[in-house]
Amino acid sequence: MFIPSYLVNEHFDDRYFDVVSALDEAQQIYFRNNNLIDRIAAGIEAKTPLIIGETGFGAGRVVISLMEFLQESGLKNISIEYNTVELYPMDPDRMFHLLSEFKDRAGDEIDTLVNAYRLIDTTRSGWHSMKIQRSFGTLDINLWIGEALEMVNALENSCDVWFLDGHSPKKNPSIWRPELLMEIGKKTKVYGTCSTFTVAGAVKRALIDAGFTLKKLPGCGGKNEVLHGTTC
Ligand SMILES: C[S@@+](CC[C@H](N)C(=O)[O-])C[C@H]1O[C@@H](n2cnc3c(N)ncnc32)[C@H](O)[C@@H]1O
Repeated sequence: MFIPSYLVNEHFDDRYFDVVSALDEAQQIYFRNNNLIDRIAAGIEAKTPLIIGETGFGAGRVVISLMEFLQESGLKNISIEYNTVELYPMDPDRMFHLLSEFKDRAGDEIDTLVNAYRLIDTTRSGWHSMKIQRSFGTLDINLWIGEALEMVNALENSCDVWFLDGHSPKKNPSIWRPELLMEIGKKTKVYGTCSTFTVAGAVKRALIDAGFTLKKLPGCGGKNEVLHGTTC
């Protein structure tokens, strides 16, 4: 398959996402498979934020897709803490260029995220905050510039849900290494969940060792089945 060079992360020789179905893919794999709407609605009722962790912020395509998903849910007073990590933060202009593939569908969401991203100093490692207020509520993004394991170790609160989106295990084994997935398991609440696009055997084994019970659920685009894990 031909992959345009602007979509490729030169550090891993792998694309950030698939332009054809990237927003729908995120909605299926990360949001619907994790039953996000019901869990967010329960959080609104209980007045507690849903805490999400993501490995691989990249161009923020999953965040854009999440904003669209929340907008379409019709829910109000949503509160989400979104913890994400990026070892090689990209220039905001490049981010805008990559995301502009989706501008007809999510133009406002792209402008909101890229404008917030322009305000942070990505040359400084560690936590950066991007607070996004929309009609659905608040999306509090904590972006950790640095290595994923450092971010997981630094997390104060365990996550309800993990989106594991760090390039293919063949191209980037570092973000799937057992030591990291073990720490992710420890920073997941009881009855917490995780999702990823890969069904690679080594990833499955490491997630099971980290305490997740796995099953395959429907994927999207080029992937018929994807992985879903739960800690209960
Ligand atoms: C497939 S891309 C993520 C796509 C992203 N979720 C999006 O929606 O645009 C994976 C990202 O993980 C980052 N990454 C890879 N290994 C990492 C590591 N060990 N620690 C932190 N970030 C890492 C890459 O630089 C890349 O931006």
